[in-house]
Amino acid sequence: MKRTVLVTGANRGIGLAIVRQLAELGNTIFLGTRDLKAGEEAAATLRHNGLDVTAVHVDLAVAGTIDTAIQGFARPGHQLDALVNNAGVLHQQPLLELTDAQIADSIAVHLTGPLRLIRGVVPGMIARGAGRIVNVSSGWGSFSEGLGGPGAYGITKAALNALTVRLAKELPPEVKVNAMCPGWVRTRMGGEGATRSPEEGADTAVWLATLPNDGPTGGFFRERKAIKW
Ligand SMILES: NC(=O)c1ccc[n+]([C@@H]2O[C@H](COP(=O)([O-])OP(=O)(O)OC[C@H]3O[C@@H](n4cnc5c(N)ncnc54)[C@H](OP(=O)(O)O)[C@@H]3O)[C@@H](O)[C@H]2O)c1
Repeated sequence: MKRTVLVTGANRGIGLAIVRQLAELGNTIFLGTRDLKAGEEAAATLRHNGLDVTAVHVDLAVAGTIDTAIQGFARPGHQLDALVNNAGVLHQQPLLELTDAQIADSIAVHLTGPLRLIRGVVPGMIARGAGRIVNVSSGWGSFSEGLGGPGAYGITKAALNALTVRLAKELPPEVKVNAMCPGWVRTRMGGEGATRSPEEGADTAVWLATLPNDGPTGGFFRERKAIKW
């Protein structure tokens, strides 16, 4: 089945690898990017390889860009079968040293931005009888793994996990929502010493975005296996 998918924060890192893998499966991909020039360059490179990838301006911290993108996804041929909330931000300061702007940014990118996008595209998924939502989280957002990471990161990823659990209770079963942890990945965020490639980090998100109808919902996964919240 050919799907139409939006991946946020996809101009580089794990998001770009998710886009590439989903496009190589024959899907139509919207590459969400807050820096439209960088996103268009990334999309053009993939199109040169014959892939169906178009850049879309989505800044999770600017509600107007989310709303404009949602209007675009209402058009015939642009309706989303899957949404991958991949964008992430890692402010390094301890909790008590964060500025208001850094706290607001963490909440917007990991919680309120994804929720705004979900709110905008889920009614269409329900009407069409199918949808997949993937929230790219982190083991640092897991209570059972000790809420690691600096300052606001683990707290807001935990909030994204809570959003996943809550949303699964409200959605009809044909619209599935799951969270995943990509592991420690060699990106600008993960650093050069990380153990996994962006392609490896992308795999579980690609799997969740293309789940069959009898696939799981309301779960948290790493390497395609369920993990504890
Ligand atoms: N790397 C790891 O080891 C690791 C581990 C666990 C979880 N994760 C999660 O995996 C996801 C991808 O991370 P990554 O390692 O690929 O990080 P990355 O290389 O730093 O990429 C982060 C992406 O998010 C985008 N972004 C940041 N703020 C945004 C905003 N306001 N609106 C839209 N996009 C925004 C960035 O855009 P710009 O290019 O414009 O900055 C970039 O495209 C994140 O959710 C991260 O938390 C990563």
